[in-house]
Amino acid sequence: MKEGTSSLVIPSSFAVICKEEVGSTNDEVRLLAEQGAQDGTIVWALRQSAGRGRQGRTWVSPVGNLYFSTLLRPEKSIAEAANLSFVASLALSDAIRQLDRKLVSGLKWPNDVLLSGKKVSGVLLESKADRSGNLDYLIMGVGVNLVHYPDDARYPATSLREQGLSDDIGADKLLESFINSFDARYKLWKKEGFDSVRSAWLDQAHGLGEKIYVRLPGETLSGRFVTIDKDGALDLDLENGKQRLVTAGDVFFAS
Ligand code: BTN
Repeated sequence: MKEGTSSLVIPSSFAVICKEEVGSTNDEVRLLAEQGAQDGTIVWALRQSAGRGRQGRTWVSPVGNLYFSTLLRPEKSIAEAANLSFVASLALSDAIRQLDRKLVSGLKWPNDVLLSGKKVSGVLLESKADRSGNLDYLIMGVGVNLVHYPDDARYPATSLREQGLSDDIGADKLLESFINSFDARYKLWKKEGFDSVRSAWLDQAHGLGEKIYVRLPGETLSGRFVTIDKDGALDLDLENGKQRLVTAGDVFFAS
């Protein structure tokens, strides 16, 4: 990969800018967004010195894995735009299935792709509102473990290499495949909303109908994972018989 623009075969509505090293690709995209960059602008970096994960965690980002962020400016509310984390996880699942149809074991709420039950990727959405409180833009940051994975992560992690995929599968091929799949799913979501995304996501959901634990900042809930609601919140039947809708938290499975 050379610094500059890429030679990936992708729809013309996307443009990929390649960088050797950045702090965080999300921050690079934010700078471009503030300068008026278009929907579909992507920054892809070989490594990040300050990669971020969800809930303020660090995303360790050595050379070898895939790190990129996409600028999106859909005409949707901020709440609706949060649906895009599900769209991203579906597109990642598509891209990995294209390498090996049987590799993906499921999706973990809200947006983790699991291989053999372990996390191989993560999605970090960051949005900016305009002065009236409407969505100005959204940054969709994606990290995929191709060869490295943390062995001390809160949730067990893996890499494509650990799951037996050849090292020849480069980050560029995976990114290309992701963008093509995301393009189709993004268009459908813009036209039809969350319904079809929701059912596609539920088809691949791990642990549906089973006992799960959800870690929140001050407590851990346990209950049966019933579904995700019309906005993507996790619907949990608590052990005390009450129902709880969770909008942010870390899911763990009982078995
Ligand atoms: C998670 O915690 O699961 C989300 C991880 C998101 C990591 C990606 S790597 C590219 C982009 N830049 C960042 O700093 N974070 C996201």
